Amino acid sequence: MCGIVGYIGNREATPLIVEGLKKLEYRGYDSAGVAVINSDNKLQIAKAKGRLANLEKELEIDGLSGVIGIGHTRWATHGVPSKLNSHPHLNTKKTIAVVHNGIIENYMELRKFLRENGYEFITDTDTEVIPNLIDFYYNGDLVEAVTEATKKLRGGYAFGVISVDEPDKLVAVRKDCPLIVGLKEGGNFIASDIPAVLNETRDVYFIEDDEIVVLTKDSVKILTEDGKEVNRDVYHVTWNADAAEKGGYDHFMLKEIFEQPKVTRDTMTSRIALGEDITLDKINLTTEQLKSFSKIYIVACGTAYHAGLIGKYAIEKLAKIPVEVDIASEFRYRDPLINEKTLLIVISQSGETADTLAAMRLAKKKGARVIAVTNVVGSTVSREADDVFYTWAGPEIAVASTKAYTTQLVAMYIIALYLAQHMKTISNSEIEELKKALIELPEKEEEILKNAEKIKKHAEKVSKENDVFYLGRGFDYAVAMEGSLKLKEISYIHSEAYAGGELKHGPIALIEDGTVVIALASQESLFEKMVSNIKEVKTRGAYVISVAMEGKTAIEDTSDEVIYLPRVNPVLAPIATVIPLQLLSYYIAIIKGCDVDKPRNLAKSVTVE
Ligand code: M6R
Repeated sequence: MCGIVGYIGNREATPLIVEGLKKLEYRGYDSAGVAVINSDNKLQIAKAKGRLANLEKELEIDGLSGVIGIGHTRWATHGVPSKLNSHPHLNTKKTIAVVHNGIIENYMELRKFLRENGYEFITDTDTEVIPNLIDFYYNGDLVEAVTEATKKLRGGYAFGVISVDEPDKLVAVRKDCPLIVGLKEGGNFIASDIPAVLNETRDVYFIEDDEIVVLTKDSVKILTEDGKEVNRDVYHVTWNADAAEKGGYDHFMLKEIFEQPKVTRDTMTSRIALGEDITLDKINLTTEQLKSFSKIYIVACGTAYHAGLIGKYAIEKLAKIPVEVDIASEFRYRDPLINEKTLLIVISQSGETADTLAAMRLAKKKGARVIAVTNVVGSTVSREADDVFYTWAGPEIAVASTKAYTTQLVAMYIIALYLAQHMKTISNSEIEELKKALIELPEKEEEILKNAEKIKKHAEKVSKENDVFYLGRGFDYAVAMEGSLKLKEISYIHSEAYAGGELKHGPIALIEDGTVVIALASQESLFEKMVSNIKEVKTRGAYVISVAMEGKTAIEDTSDEVIYLPRVNPVLAPIATVIPLQLLSYYIAIIKGCDVDKPRNLAKSVTVE
């Protein structure tokens, strides 16, 4: 997620902006840039791909000077990470500079409109429409032009604007992306997050959605979209910078778990809407091509592989195409049967996992068509695949994947529905019903997260165990694997996931008095069978924590504890079921004093075989 910093005051803007951007590094970024207005009333820009140190080198050469400026760390969404695509972006006349966080969903239509009005575009970004649109509406009043331009934008965004026509003003807007103002005598700041200004001030305003803020060196005015001035209380920050980077959460993992409703929503936005066909802008396959695939492989590693398993169930159930799911490191060496009738879906949060890349290259060489599901724009996987589905999870910092997994599940469901729509394997009303259930999911996730404290209660007992078993059937079996991986990764407790029906073929020998079994029973059609499996372990002394849908109270007879979930469509249940498992692992790891965000022996991106 991009970071914005801006300053207007009596001091040199560039060093203040760069220091602020450094405090936003935790948000993840792939390039950075600064724009200032100098004493000759000219815009001066410096940009660099990669770390802020690269930008600092550019700044040494370019020596920007000015008391008003804006800066940005970019996490690529539209267009690869590059110097050209990095912010600030300018209008065609080069009089207005903009830094932007978020996505402008209707940027294609705005580009077309602006092109017809003589504007030119030099980058691949959605952002570039903003300075040009402001220019289009500029008639001697920057605030008015920003207000008019904002009315034409669709999507979620926060952006900061400076213009050589009004060099005594910094204007910023917020809609669905964070924006704060830092207040200081002799100069004021805008930023995406508080840490960016904490070295300078602890007094801030929180800007709310649809508000426009106008900064001068000694005043700050907050306006509604229809120009009314808003009175806002100053918030005095008492926490330290480290806590603030984590948004007040103790760990990135917890923050990311709590971000899941938002990223679920973001991943669906612009892809599904009731009554409309599913459109996947970066997947260019015709119905004929889709019909020509006789087999789908899903290939990935770790958590992404677990998302692939859910993808298999969803695609087979909805689109009726046979799917095989493989661990990338196995797939690449097992001589898989691939030809031009094969569709390969690779899933990778980072888009850089060595085994996943190798599997993809192998399949491409043998003629397969490749769709990449990835979270990182410009990653190797996204560049080499034929088609891409971006999961808009934002940067995931904790090594243990949580929000990226949920968005991978959303991707799998949308791809399954997209295939079903083209193949006409289920009725339109079934598709609409599932879309509606998907759209309602973020609210259900929020409900589950509100019960985090209840889930925490179970952590104490489990934290004392050496071995934990996870059981599930169907979709729940795949989620059980993910729950088990989360526990291993961050709490170092040994755990195994089994399909409910498989227990008596061996693993049940391990169950003894007090063995903790976490049993998932979200699937209506398999509920009774799952209850029987729970009985089997309970009779042998297991301590059972079950996860079931609200109202399925029959499970209480065979469980020691039950975690209830709000009712969701069984096909989509994994997105709900996994959340208590993530939270449980997190709280257990905390009790055990483990390094939650950076577990031992693990790396966030595994770029070696
Ligand atoms: O970046 P990728 O999605 O390709 O990474 C795959 C796995 O390395 C990753 O999911 C790993 O299993 C995580 N640590 C799980 O929490």
